[in-house]
Amino acid sequence: MRVVVDRLGDPTSAAGRKLRAVVREQLAGVADDLAFLDDGTPMADAVDDADGIVTLLSTRVDDALLDRAPRLKAVGNFAVGYDNVDLEACKARGVAVCNTPDVLTRATAELSLTLLLAAARRVPEGETMARAGAFAGWAPDMLLGRELFGRRAVIVGRGRIGEATGALFAAVGLEVAYITRSDDERAIDDKLARAQVLSLHVPLSEATRHWLDARRLALLPADAIVINTARGPVVDEAALIDVLRERRIFAAGLDVYEREPEIPKALRSLDNAVLLPHLGSATYRAREGMARLSSGGVAAVLRGEDPPNRLV
Ligand code: GLV
Repeated sequence: MRVVVDRLGDPTSAAGRKLRAVVREQLAGVADDLAFLDDGTPMADAVDDADGIVTLLSTRVDDALLDRAPRLKAVGNFAVGYDNVDLEACKARGVAVCNTPDVLTRATAELSLTLLLAAARRVPEGETMARAGAFAGWAPDMLLGRELFGRRAVIVGRGRIGEATGALFAAVGLEVAYITRSDDERAIDDKLARAQVLSLHVPLSEATRHWLDARRLALLPADAIVINTARGPVVDEAALIDVLRERRIFAAGLDVYEREPEIPKALRSLDNAVLLPHLGSATYRAREGMARLSSGGVAAVLRGEDPPNRLV
């Protein structure tokens, strides 16, 4: 059977080689034809005779791709989020889809805390000053930030990553509350009005697109710090830029953007935004787990088994 794998990073890097080795091991005995798209061929151009595919979150798996993949039986999405995959279209064609839950929960929660600490204590501004040779001596009023101990954090979404992030936030002394699907509009507004830290951990769907919009941003207190390690479109990015520029909140720590990989210049020019290039799951351990689960899911489906991380 033929399995096609999206480009798993640089094939010559140690990490890239390790990820390919994990995929080969998972698909041994199942895929006699295993192709890694290392030459940059888009997945849609490589699926005509594929029985299974391993996709990155930047690859759209939709009717247009499925039309070109008549033999396809399994998609292993190398991500826990699956907003890039049209589950209904896959289901309608009997194509199984798997994702990679659990293995990246800790990594993503740790990155949320990293962003929070960096934003609260203005770490990038201090680092830039130190590297630029602009540190002119200790000063009582230089780069003052916010302590986290005793402040109120609100986590949006109580799935695995939301829970793990809440536990880490509590460990540094934040008082943690959650916004979940059972909260009505009024309860949400009340929580937002008290949220000195707001951290987003919901999947992207039509229901969560622009969840954090201009109206909700306006409810946040002036010392609020917004953290997003979920998906960029959960936040109205233009509205967030406005409140940061006007200093209506203290800071934001962002790992994800509305139109990745584009990061708007207006955001890049703000000193109260800490920006990372979608690194939530970027640890050796998480990425090996993601390679194992995504390709292992495809292998299981092609063997006629039911993988535990199957979505449809
Ligand atoms: C990364 O963003 C993922 O969804 O795994």
